[in-house]
Order: sequence, then C-alpha cells, then structure tokens
Amino acid sequence: MRVLVLNGPNLNLLGSREPEIYGFETLADIEAGLRAHAADLDIEVEFIQSNHEGTMIDAIQSHRDWDGIILNPAGYTHTSIALADAIAGASAPVVEVHLSNVHKREAFRHHSYISPVAWGQVIGFGYRGYHAALDLLHSRYSAGGTGTSA
Ligand code: DQA
Repeated sequence: MRVLVLNGPNLNLLGSREPEIYGFETLADIEAGLRAHAADLDIEVEFIQSNHEGTMIDAIQSHRDWDGIILNPAGYTHTSIALADAIAGASAPVVEVHLSNVHKREAFRHHSYISPVAWGQVIGFGYRGYHAALDLLHSRYSAGGTGTSA
C-alpha cells in the first residue's frame, strides 16, 4: 500500500508558526511519527510539502493512482478550484486534514473547495489527524478499497 502525504503552503514553518493554533510539532516531527506508524502498518509513504499550487497539483497527478493521499492544502483549501480538479481526476482516495478546527476560526476558513472531492476530512486534532487519516486509509484498503462513502 502506498500513501502520499502532501502538505501545502506555510506548513514548512510548523512548530514556530502560530504554535498556539497549529501546535509545537515541526513538520519533520510529524513526518518522523508518521513514518513509524506507516512502518507498523506496512505502508510505503512519501512526503511532499510545497508552497506552490502548481507543484501540489503535479504531486497529485503523479500519485493519482496510489492507494491514498493525505492532504493538508493549508490556505489553498479555501481558494483552489485547480487543486479540487486535480483530486477529482485522481483515483486515490483523499483524506483532507487540518491541524486546527477551521470551523471555530474565521468565516473564510469554513468553506473548503477540497471537501466535495475528498473521501473525508479530519479536522482539529493537530498532528494526530494525520495518524487518524493513515489508519482510515489503511482500513479502507484492507477492506478492498471501499469506504463508508464513495
Ligand atoms: C490549516 C488551516 C488553513 O485555514 C490554514 O490556511 C493553514 C493550515 C490547518 O492545518 O489547520 O495554513 O490547513
């Protein structure tokens, strides 16, 4: 089983960027924890972080037939039709992850262009959300590639 973990703009600054909102774990900390978790589940994981929309779209396209994508689109969540189109064209189920509970925050963070094309969302649990997403993709894969919703 192969899973891409794709993080969007400004998430390279995790740990020092508004830690009261996003937590004190760095992206490297999150990656190390997820690599260990993935190894336990016998999942091959690849990590990509980009501050650029086009690079993220390229990453989705080149992993479109993988067994899952864990995606934190960061600010592009609320703006990017192009990212949503790339996901719609991928067979990989996408779990949209947000560290913070975007629904408790500014109104402009309440809308996601990604959620209608994602398999599901994990929101507001900090770095633990990535681990939950990995478990969800693993159980979907183990069940033969189907989830509770398409
Ligand atoms: C975020 C929430 C977004 O609204 C914000 O632009 C981010 C991070 C989160 O993980 O909570 O950069 O995706």
